[in-house]
Amino acid sequence: MDMSAMNKITYGLYVLTARCGSFSNGCIINTLAQVTSSPNRVSITVNKSNYTCYMIAQSGRFNVSMIDESAPFSLFTRFGFCTGRWEDKFLGHEIARSGNGIPYIPENTCAYLSGEVVSSVDLGTHIMFIADVTDAAVLSDKAPMTYAFYHANVKPKPKPAPQEDAPAGERWICNICGYIYEGHLPEDFICPLCKHGAADFSRLDQPAAAEDKPAGAAGDTAEEKWVCNVCGYIYEGALPEDFVCPICGVGADEFSRM
Ligand SMILES: Cc1cc2nc3c(=O)[nH]c(=O)nc-3n(C[C@H](O)[C@H](O)[C@H](O)COP(=O)(O)O)c2cc1C
Repeated sequence: MDMSAMNKITYGLYVLTARCGSFSNGCIINTLAQVTSSPNRVSITVNKSNYTCYMIAQSGRFNVSMIDESAPFSLFTRFGFCTGRWEDKFLGHEIARSGNGIPYIPENTCAYLSGEVVSSVDLGTHIMFIADVTDAAVLSDKAPMTYAFYHANVKPKPKPAPQEDAPAGERWICNICGYIYEGHLPEDFICPLCKHGAADFSRLDQPAAAEDKPAGAAGDTAEEKWVCNVCGYIYEGALPEDFVCPICGVGADEFSRM
């Protein structure tokens, strides 16, 4: 079986929003699909560890804002790389509300729809919500952003090290947003994308350093560790070829060995 066939599936990108009481939250998804036209129903598939998933399970309602090609990477870092459990992702961000009272994102989006959940399927790591479309509006005629467009034009490419005397081969990845820094990472370094500090970076391509660990220490089994370049999720052990990131849904080819 050639698992790279999975990479030929096309996806759009969306900000999925929900509301519980007076608190609103949202996350990036790529899993919206229309499932029937009469009645007009869509499905969304959301990781159970996402706060937005919990909020939709509680409230039975959501909005989906369809991201267009003008959207900056900051929209993805705000909604796709951190959880709304501890912060208000809408703080300082322009929102509008649809008839169900849930925010949608009016900027860098070309349309939105509102959904009311009619059934849900437990998929283990994720829940698939199937919902009636109860409201919809087109906001602009800009092209909707596909996942392929995001990878080619929006997601930053690794930047060269700023200092010329950087030790050869050192590469660091931000565990939060996937930004890659090449060279010796300063202690006070702040990720230019998501603003997390050096403590949230992991070394990539680290040579095996047996002398760093006392003999017999836990983890001395030289177990492999892999980090997802998109969302920073860390996988321990030999990464299966058909592995799919449980957080952001990308495949094994988006993982780098730590
Ligand atoms: C490009 C991209 C696509 C993503 N697609 C999905 C998805 O389809 N389903 C999902 O559950 N999470 C997806 N995520 C991850 C969530 O957006 C992310 O875990 C978010 O921080 C969850 O926030 P919350 O805890 O506030 O709900 C994606 C993230 C990115 C950057």
